[in-house]
Amino acid sequence: MDSKLISGKEVSARIKEQVKKEVMMLNSQGVFPKLSVIIVGENPASLTYVKGKHKDCAECGIVSENIALPETVSQADLLAEIERLNNDDSVHGILVQLPLPKHIDEYAVINAISPTKDVDGFTAVNVGNMNIGKDCFTPCTPQGCIDMLDYAGIDMTGKDVVVIGRSNIVGKPVSVLALQRSATVTICHSKTKNIADKTRMADIVIVAVGRAGFLTGDMLKPGAVVIDVGINRNSEGKLCGDADFDSCIDVVSKITPVPGGVGLMTRANLLKNTIKSAKNCLK
Ligand code: GUN
Repeated sequence: MDSKLISGKEVSARIKEQVKKEVMMLNSQGVFPKLSVIIVGENPASLTYVKGKHKDCAECGIVSENIALPETVSQADLLAEIERLNNDDSVHGILVQLPLPKHIDEYAVINAISPTKDVDGFTAVNVGNMNIGKDCFTPCTPQGCIDMLDYAGIDMTGKDVVVIGRSNIVGKPVSVLALQRSATVTICHSKTKNIADKTRMADIVIVAVGRAGFLTGDMLKPGAVVIDVGINRNSEGKLCGDADFDSCIDVVSKITPVPGGVGLMTRANLLKNTIKSAKNCLK
């Protein structure tokens, strides 16, 4: 069974080894890659994610700073903080952890980040450049899905890829990246009729709906590949993905586990993007 698993641990460990080498190379040239993370409020999931990001940076020799702002911070103060980081040459990457409190305009905040430091790839400039296939910061989770397919040796050319979910963070961008790899892409969402009819035609299913066990084995073509982006807790409080692992595992040729799958790749790609930004200082 294990041979069916595409391990995020393995793929992210590889990326981290590469990042460590690049950090040493940059250090030797007087560049010290630095990531600044802004977190507003105390959303428990966000606190956990941010802690993981700092841990990864420390492991790879990337300097990271945490800027914790109160839930009540004004949008103007948050924008001023971003502007300060935009103008600080020692900072290569800026990440504002989402979600933000309701009184803050997420679009305005994201797009206040300089596109040259937008290591999440969320600004309109990076989203636009990604859409037309130009150099950009690609968003970390979608890129992580592609990295896992690459690592498993799966060529997407001409493959039928079904993406379930149309979020700006995962569904839409991963569809664009799959299209750039010459896949035939279908995007399903909450209003799609007969999703199972679509998924049963798919060579690759990328599921990002945030619902535990949404994708079941009977919705898959035998030998399909499943990339599971979900991070949910089931009724017993156990971490699980959007795919019902037990019913999918017998049908698929490959599947990413949760935990130990795409989530680790999100973190690894943040490191990669931070290095990419720091390298631009050498140009
Ligand atoms: N919240 C959930 N995922 C992400 C992410 O990839 N980046 C940021 N900034 N916030 C998130």
